[in-house]
Amino acid sequence: MNINIKTPQNSTTAPSAPLIDNFGRHVTYLRVSVTDRCDFRCTYCMSETMKFLPKKEVLSFEELCQIIEIFVERGVNKIRLTGGEPLVRKDIMQLVERISKHLSTGSLNELTLTTNGSQLKRYAKQLVDNGIKRINVSLDTRDSEKFTRITRRGKLEQVLEGIDAADAAGLKIKLNMVAMRDFNEHEITPMITWAHSRGFDLTLIEEMPLGQVSGDRRKRFLSLREVRDNLAKDFTLEKIDHQSGGPARYVRLNETGGRVGFITPMTHNFCESCNRVRLTCTGRLYLCLGRENQMDLRQPLREHGKDGLNKILTQAMSIKPKGHDFDYSRIDPATDRHMSVTGG
Ligand code: 5AD
Ligand code: SF4
Repeated sequence: MNINIKTPQNSTTAPSAPLIDNFGRHVTYLRVSVTDRCDFRCTYCMSETMKFLPKKEVLSFEELCQIIEIFVERGVNKIRLTGGEPLVRKDIMQLVERISKHLSTGSLNELTLTTNGSQLKRYAKQLVDNGIKRINVSLDTRDSEKFTRITRRGKLEQVLEGIDAADAAGLKIKLNMVAMRDFNEHEITPMITWAHSRGFDLTLIEEMPLGQVSGDRRKRFLSLREVRDNLAKDFTLEKIDHQSGGPARYVRLNETGGRVGFITPMTHNFCESCNRVRLTCTGRLYLCLGRENQMDLRQPLREHGKDGLNKILTQAMSIKPKGHDFDYSRIDPATDRHMSVTGG
């Protein structure tokens, strides 16, 4: 849906006007997919024969910087770089450097990224040097054969070395683990124990029906309610208020002292506190991960510069949906869009 709506008369497009949607939610968090490319092909994320976008469709370095700058001017104070794999974009470090200037001025509170870890060994130190304090690393299994199976081409060793490098450089690490029945359900407890022994938080994620992939998502869907009930047999789970600004609900395990997050888009609706929007690498702004409401930012930016973009952002706020709607019984895939396009 690319809706062309007139700007409401009383709405403001002043350069510094905050981004507030029709439900009174302030948008302060921007997730930017800087590339749709990835060196892995995780089975729940991509198809084996994934066709990536031609380079010319992807936002240029300058366009990305301009869009991000305007969001920051309008009150976005947290940015997460995602992909695809953000660290496979060639100019990623220049981009990080440029965005980190907003950290120095205090307009941005946090710059962070979600990565598959494959390039961390090379980049960890530079990330720290540019003000990045914490990162999310995807890790679904610590069994090297299974790791290569789920990523279709990844090498576990390389990712573990990346995690070590990030840890040594002083980055706070949170692991993301997609819970899958008959794949890693029995690895959840050992993964948590290992993560906590290393001082990492771990977030479990329910698989979302984003994009066509091989295999039946329904068969491997593992409800985190079930996982949590099982965990409660081995650990004492203490509910905590910890908010990472995301949809995860957290518990602390008394036995390890570490935190476990649960992202349950399929069984729990977390939309009422949503403060985020997502920019694709082609310049489309998605107002909700689970819905198609979106607006193109690239064309207005090219045609009308900053002013054009400011107007569009105000309009975009009026189409941010109240909530998402993933429902396996009705739609599969819920959307045709892969996670690598919009970012996780
Ligand atoms: N459902 C749930 N999580 C997904 N990810 C990628 N695709 C999906 C999906 N369909 C995860 C990745 C990464 C995070 C950004 O999103 O594993 O950890
Ligand atoms: Fe790449 Fe992450 Fe998708 Fe895996 S889940 S293919 S690592 S973008």
